[in-house]
Amino acid sequence: MSPKPLALFVTHDGQSARAALTCEYKCGNACFHEPPNTSDGAYFGDIVSSLNRRGLIKGGAAAVLAVGAASVLAACGDDSSGGGDTPTAAGTPATGTDFPAVAPNKDDALVIPEGYEQQVVLRWGDPLFADAPAFDFDKQTAAAQLKQFGYNNDFAALLPIEGQPNSFLLVVNHEYTTGPMMFRGYDKDKPSDEQIAITKAAHGLTVVEVKGEAGSGKLTPVFGKYNRRITADTEFVLTGPAAGSEFTRTGADSSGAKVLGTFANCAGGVTPWGTILSGEENFNGYFANGDKADDPKGRLKRYGLTEGTTANRWERTDKRFDLAQEANEANRFGYVVEVNPWDPASTPIKHSAMGRLKHEGASIYVTAAGDVVSYTGDDEKFDYMYKFVSKRKVQPGTGAAAMRHNLTILDAGTLYVAKLTGDHADQIDGSGKVPSDQGFTGKGQWIPLLETGEDGQAKSLVEGLSAAEVAVFTRQAADKVGATKMDRPEDFEANPFTGKVYVALTNNDNRAKDGKPGVDEANPRKLNKNGQVLELTDNHTGTDFTWSLLLVCGDPAAADTYFAGFDKSKVSPISCPDNLAFDPHGNLWISTDGNALKTNDGLFSVTLDGPRRGETKQFLTVPKGAETCGPIVTEQRVIVAVQHPGEDDEATPDNPQSHWPDGGTSQPRPAIAVVWKQNGGRIGI
Ligand code: FEO
Ligand code: CA
Ligand code: CA
Repeated sequence: MSPKPLALFVTHDGQSARAALTCEYKCGNACFHEPPNTSDGAYFGDIVSSLNRRGLIKGGAAAVLAVGAASVLAACGDDSSGGGDTPTAAGTPATGTDFPAVAPNKDDALVIPEGYEQQVVLRWGDPLFADAPAFDFDKQTAAAQLKQFGYNNDFAALLPIEGQPNSFLLVVNHEYTTGPMMFRGYDKDKPSDEQIAITKAAHGLTVVEVKGEAGSGKLTPVFGKYNRRITADTEFVLTGPAAGSEFTRTGADSSGAKVLGTFANCAGGVTPWGTILSGEENFNGYFANGDKADDPKGRLKRYGLTEGTTANRWERTDKRFDLAQEANEANRFGYVVEVNPWDPASTPIKHSAMGRLKHEGASIYVTAAGDVVSYTGDDEKFDYMYKFVSKRKVQPGTGAAAMRHNLTILDAGTLYVAKLTGDHADQIDGSGKVPSDQGFTGKGQWIPLLETGEDGQAKSLVEGLSAAEVAVFTRQAADKVGATKMDRPEDFEANPFTGKVYVALTNNDNRAKDGKPGVDEANPRKLNKNGQVLELTDNHTGTDFTWSLLLVCGDPAAADTYFAGFDKSKVSPISCPDNLAFDPHGNLWISTDGNALKTNDGLFSVTLDGPRRGETKQFLTVPKGAETCGPIVTEQRVIVAVQHPGEDDEATPDNPQSHWPDGGTSQPRPAIAVVWKQNGGRIGI
């Protein structure tokens, strides 16, 4: 079919290229609402000095050794002293980034570099169990969906199965559903009860065994014993200071600790103890009638829980989604979720000691001393960056006792929020002009908010708020301590070789708008539509860090972009960085969402060390209308989750805007795809 005109992508304030349909179902129309952070950011100095007096600020950690996702996912080199395989000369690409860059395009295809091959691993509706029916677009049922791969895949993880060479668990988030594209003749105002049940069943997570094959990167799903679907109705246990509090007890759950379901699961992380973390992000979009519930302290509003019906209309069949009837239910979402994929009968956990916010994901870093640190972003315009430093260490081994202990690591520790200051505040004018010493740089401080002890006793570190209040209304706690308002913090990822931490700040079209917070050195552009990537040099367990901007994204030909000083004529355009991953060589990989340069979203490698630091190359692009999610990069494979292919404002089953992945006249289906180098070669080498 002929390419669709660009006009089909609505531009909100002339900025990002996200379809209005995506806004409605994915993020509760965050683009159209006022950003919910209206705090004035007060007395930072007072808080720090009082904490110093109480001796709560620890000394910095020393050397680092990653035991995080990269080492779990791939048998990578163990060069823990330097920056991985760095290039030796300006003329040679960094190891792992030697591939022909894919040009920007608007194709309805997964476009990969020459010399590479691809396969679709799993599509929405594919059966996960022997007794699951084959997918039939026109005969969907909730019973079938409960046994099939869910919709709109986001984060993905690949865990090797011990003792079974070339066998893996693939774990995937299903962030949201889009009724108008899933069902023929869908009535947005009155979806049927069965359609509501199907969309609830299509949310959550999938665990599925996949088998590789020698000589290629192909992955074939199998009906394995670990296969599992977690949905919007699966039972979870809420742990930490929020559990059992007056804010989390409901009519249906007097314990305040037994929560049904997870949804809006965006990015995530792999823990060194073999579990999966998943961030509950835009949960506000699932709750109706926020204006009809009492909200004297602005707690609903601060999380964007506002008036009217929801896009999915779940409130019609399940009153817990109606805030007028059950105001506390929303307080049971917005957490970091932990799933033990090795036990399909296990009850997944929501860790409230890590705070309640629109968690993009959670990324674990383990220091040389064995301290466990988790980093997380609150993906909203003008919201904050957080970390959690556990009091517990990883118990080695894969036995039941070790797992029992390790599943409590994220229940005891200290939650911090970040405050950043710039080195050149007087030179930041909103234009994106690089300060005089050729870099956006500065210092930062982690401000403690909440300390949860190993005995479960929690202590608020924010004046005027109880521990339960900080755990449940974390955004308001962070407002009080003057945290820095960022341009939508998405994924964090720590470099397994250097320990430096990277943060994708995707965009913020409200930055320095009339009446809105102005620019600062970490968020240096007005009406920021292309985003930036921040590099933190953090001592992980301590409270001080330094930072610099690695990339200021956009068209390399534009004056307001910056690629760590690398020659801008030699990089790929990149816009709206979202998910981050490391390859086994220490290169950063970035996937994008909402490319404001009006071509398809993609996946990029970025060189971090040596003379080609800042070199940014597009490895693949996803089909039109789609967003690139869940990147996994190993020696042998690049895996991406292709989310919402063909989603735009005209898309219906009778008028599909994409036919990926099945081609012909088929309906678009969100899917996981794998890419590998021909003849079994190593990625980027
Ligand atoms: Fe689901 Fe922050 O993107
Ligand atoms: Ca994201
Ligand atoms: Ca995303």
